[in-house]
Amino acid sequence: MAEQKRKRILSGIQPTGTFTLGNYIGAVRNWAKLQDDFECLYMLADLHALTVRQVPAELRRHTREAAAMLLAAGIDPSQSLVFVQSQVPAHTQLGWVITCNSQFGELSRMTQFKDKSAKHPDNINGGLRSYPRLLAADILVYLAELVPVGQDQTQHLELARNVAQRFNNAYSPTFTLPEGYITKEGAKIMSLAEPTRKMSKSDTNQNSYILMTDDTDTILRKFKRAVTDSDGVVRYDPAAKPGVSNLMCIYNVFTGKAMDEIEREFDGVGYGDFKLAVGQAVADALAPIQGEYARILADTAYVDGVLRQGAEGASRLANRMVEKVYRKIGLLQL
Ligand code: TYM
Repeated sequence: MAEQKRKRILSGIQPTGTFTLGNYIGAVRNWAKLQDDFECLYMLADLHALTVRQVPAELRRHTREAAAMLLAAGIDPSQSLVFVQSQVPAHTQLGWVITCNSQFGELSRMTQFKDKSAKHPDNINGGLRSYPRLLAADILVYLAELVPVGQDQTQHLELARNVAQRFNNAYSPTFTLPEGYITKEGAKIMSLAEPTRKMSKSDTNQNSYILMTDDTDTILRKFKRAVTDSDGVVRYDPAAKPGVSNLMCIYNVFTGKAMDEIEREFDGVGYGDFKLAVGQAVADALAPIQGEYARILADTAYVDGVLRQGAEGASRLANRMVEKVYRKIGLLQL
């Protein structure tokens, strides 16, 4: 029997600094797991990063570091394509077509646009608003069926689906409508300092996030300071107890223990011991990744080779799609 064609997956992450535990739990951890069952493309979204002013040398450094971190976290370049967005021009080529097939109003509704505009009032550039169009192109250019992301990307995915549908109706069936692949556990890891907000590396309070490169002492210290509540009971209730519930969620991800099991484990135990246990579980999980990261990052030639090979493979797929779309919409091909 012929082997069934594997579904294609595309996802991306911005190389704007060291990944947080939120990035890892919500996205990267799942990317590694999906490789056996899907044809995967994982992208460092450096063009998206430009929507916020970047220091050129830092962006370059962060891009290599991000690649090394993906590899350290288990993404295997012999199974998956790992590449830098700007090295596959087909994304921006299709991005323009998508731009001309999307409406201004739908872009202004995006929460991320509103958040980033509020955060950077001195730089509300066109890219910030156009961002979801490029994101749609990132996905559609590969006809990706599944997109493993955290919860904060659902609105962007919806826009990608709408644009794809609109294009298919206007021309002929061309794009696959992508589905989000969002795990129930850890789709939105919250800030340790303000547990009603998402954990984010752009937060000005360094105690609010765990970085993938934080050492054990730093991890334990940050968890020790994590904001909880005053009733002293470890119980899962995200609305009433966002801080404790967030820590339980993180503990669940790394220990596999269900929420009721965690509640029993810490029944009658103070928050201090609970926070220490969560911190230790995180530190234990990150230690081997950090070892791999240091080893891989030291080998620049290897990292660059992986990215070159990834960009070649991705370009082969994406260029074909751009040609097809250009033909459909009437651009002269010689
Ligand atoms: P970025 O770089 O902000 O985040 C990368 C991935 O990490 C997830 N994530 C989280 N998950 C759970 N809890 C958190 N606190 C948390 N913080 C971040 C995000 O949901 C994301 O999956 N727009 C994207 C990059 C991108 C992309 C794409 C993604 C560009 N093109 C095409 C999918 C498909 C972004 O800025 O992710």
